[in-house]
Amino acid sequence: MSLLFKIIFLLLICYSNAESQEPLGQFCNENTNITSGSKLSANIDKLLAELVSETPSTGFISASFGKEQDRVYGLSQCRRDVSKEDCSICIQDAAKEVRKRCPNQADARIWYDYCFLRYSNESFIGKVDTSFGIIYWNLGNVSDPEAFNRELGSLMDEIKAEAVMAKNKGLGKGKTKLSSFVTLYGLVQCTGDLSDVACAQCLAIAEESNFNNLCSNRKGCRVLYSSCYVRYELYPFFFPLDSSIPSEINNTEMMAIVYP
Ligand SMILES: *[C@@H]1O[C@H](CO)[C@@H](O)[C@H](O)[C@H]1NC(C)=O
Ligand SMILES: *[C@@H]1O[C@H](CO)[C@@H](O)[C@H](O)[C@H]1NC(C)=O
Ligand SMILES: *[C@@H]1O[C@H](CO)[C@@H](O)[C@H](O)[C@H]1NC(C)=O
Ligand SMILES: *[C@@H]1O[C@H](CO)[C@@H](O)[C@H](O)[C@H]1NC(C)=O
Repeated sequence: MSLLFKIIFLLLICYSNAESQEPLGQFCNENTNITSGSKLSANIDKLLAELVSETPSTGFISASFGKEQDRVYGLSQCRRDVSKEDCSICIQDAAKEVRKRCPNQADARIWYDYCFLRYSNESFIGKVDTSFGIIYWNLGNVSDPEAFNRELGSLMDEIKAEAVMAKNKGLGKGKTKLSSFVTLYGLVQCTGDLSDVACAQCLAIAEESNFNNLCSNRKGCRVLYSSCYVRYELYPFFFPLDSSIPSEINNTEMMAIVYP
């Protein structure tokens, strides 16, 4: 019986076409340099092992490892619409890649579309952090900015309100038809350690700081902070995937790092 289960599980993984993605970016805090043989560095590896094993079942975990000056705090989270299989692959990649990209830093963060992982020797759990952001925007501009921004604003209001409802665990997503052919999709998510008030604050900053700047009048945009994620597109990108994908969408994107 148990052998049968294992085989079915493996087949499902192959069939679901889950695959590794490239990171969208990382932050290695160069004011927190450590040496690779240190106790703190060993504790980071132990913490990462815990994050990798525990994130997929709950979608979010915060943890700490070690004592006194060698203590390290960590957090990892998947986008809540993503499957357990994709979550697991994403967090495994994140844990491996963040150590490659930030090998000598006690404060490091890595962003993927499906997940986010960070750790630091300073406690950051429960605090809103918008000090470092990664923005991706579609190079295409909308043809009717006034109408588009009105629709985008009301979709954002709706999904931000959803995100701060306890049962939604920081996730808000939705869509709105702009015409018979065009649908606008939006998704926001806060990290699971934030209170409703803190979540609302992060999402407000993400919108206010970027929607009139790098995202302005763009056909799509993504804002990646350490405490929240905001994205809208004119094509389906969240799960369950909408099947009506319009073929003429050009999703060539630009990326920028922003410090407030
Ligand atoms: C930390 O290390 C990086 C190289 O890994 C170096 O460029 C940077 O100056 C160091 N920071 C400090 C504060 O020493
Ligand atoms: C974290 O590590 C950095 C670099 O080693 C150090 O300057 C800082 O004091 C540490 N913070 C804590 C809370 O231990
Ligand atoms: C979109 O708008 C930006 C800013 O107004 C402009 O620089 C850019 O050339 C426009 N892109 C296209 C494809 O029209
Ligand atoms: C998409 O847009 C970019 C930038 O405007 C352009 O360089 C590229 O050729 C376009 N791709 C397609 C398939 O139209």
